[in-house]
Amino acid sequence: MEYRRLGKAGLKVSALSLGSWVTFGKQVALRDAKILLRTAYDGGINFFDNAEGYEAGESEKIMGDAIAALGLARDTFSVSSKVFWGGEQPTQLGLNAKHVREACDAALKRLRVDYLDLFFCHRPDIDTPIEETVRAMHNLIQQGKVIYWGTSEWSAQQITEAHAVAQREHLTPPSMEQPEYNLLHRHRVEAEYLPLYQNYGMGTTIWSPLASGLLTGKYNDGVPGDSRLALPGYEWLRKTWDSDAGQQKIAKIRKLTELASQLGISVTHLSLAWCLKNPNVSSVILGASKLTQLEDNLRALDALPQLTTEVMDAIEDIVDNRPPAPQRWGQ
Ligand SMILES: NC(=O)c1ccc[n+]([C@@H]2O[C@H](COP(=O)([O-])OP(=O)(O)OC[C@H]3O[C@@H](n4cnc5c(N)ncnc54)[C@H](OP(=O)(O)O)[C@@H]3O)[C@@H](O)[C@H]2O)c1
Repeated sequence: MEYRRLGKAGLKVSALSLGSWVTFGKQVALRDAKILLRTAYDGGINFFDNAEGYEAGESEKIMGDAIAALGLARDTFSVSSKVFWGGEQPTQLGLNAKHVREACDAALKRLRVDYLDLFFCHRPDIDTPIEETVRAMHNLIQQGKVIYWGTSEWSAQQITEAHAVAQREHLTPPSMEQPEYNLLHRHRVEAEYLPLYQNYGMGTTIWSPLASGLLTGKYNDGVPGDSRLALPGYEWLRKTWDSDAGQQKIAKIRKLTELASQLGISVTHLSLAWCLKNPNVSSVILGASKLTQLEDNLRALDALPQLTTEVMDAIEDIVDNRPPAPQRWGQ
């Protein structure tokens, strides 16, 4: 395993980490969650990602019970939660000071830990002033309940505002973002956030590196019955595959699959290794509903040497979605 700094923060996170969206509490119960976490940990993974919104807290409960049952030493791993979707009531949603505090306390109980290493604002909340959220996160840090706080899918402008408020009010600024990043979804990580890495040393723990499994190639000829896109409750995700835009993505993935096979690797490894090539990525969060998937994905680092300049160019030709480089005067 390789370990990377979380941006300019001193915390080292494994380049591959494990999250539990859709899986723990939906596809995976405690017994298999323990096996997945044990395998991840033994493979060098030291960061586990979660959120209050995953299966209405069940995902965190399973992760907490599994970590406790495995007896993992608290100083050998980091665990996260995210606040935003805590329930149906107005007070259970968003990033107001009350919900931020209550979400943290509830996550600590479910995950059975005394503090969260990373605590993310799961989305921006247009109904709460950014200053209120920054202060609420700062207070949790002061209370020892959170080590690093960050955002997920905030715009560069919103993150910049959070930094400005923190600086003005002498509060703790965000350290990391959790954006979607994969071969089919690149703009934020590669273009919009560029000033944030430079100006603030922002780290990133990126999600859906395989675009929910599309980039394994398993949807190239239809939707397998035991896959995420076939799950009840995830019809909205299946629609993204059924659409014209989805089919254009599948056409690209077929070509990527061919390229990978010429290199003697799987398109899964090619796709994960491609994310790892980006130096602004601190950790690539894996998802796995089965042990075989996790075991396979843990080997993705081995594919990194295959991604030479020529291969990266060939990938660009296929995906054809590189965000334009930032404009500089005189160029
Ligand atoms: N911050 C956010 O808003 C946000 C949003 C989404 C996710 N996340 C985080 O990011 C983590 C990863 O996201 P993700 O689960 O969408 O990642 P992903 O890697 O894009 O998709 C993972 C899914 O793809 C399939 N898969 C993975 N490896 C495979 C393999 N080797 N062969 C065949 N199928 C394979 C499995 O689904 P099936 O077996 O069910 O088909 C697996 O659950 C989440 O757990 C969560 O912690 C954060």
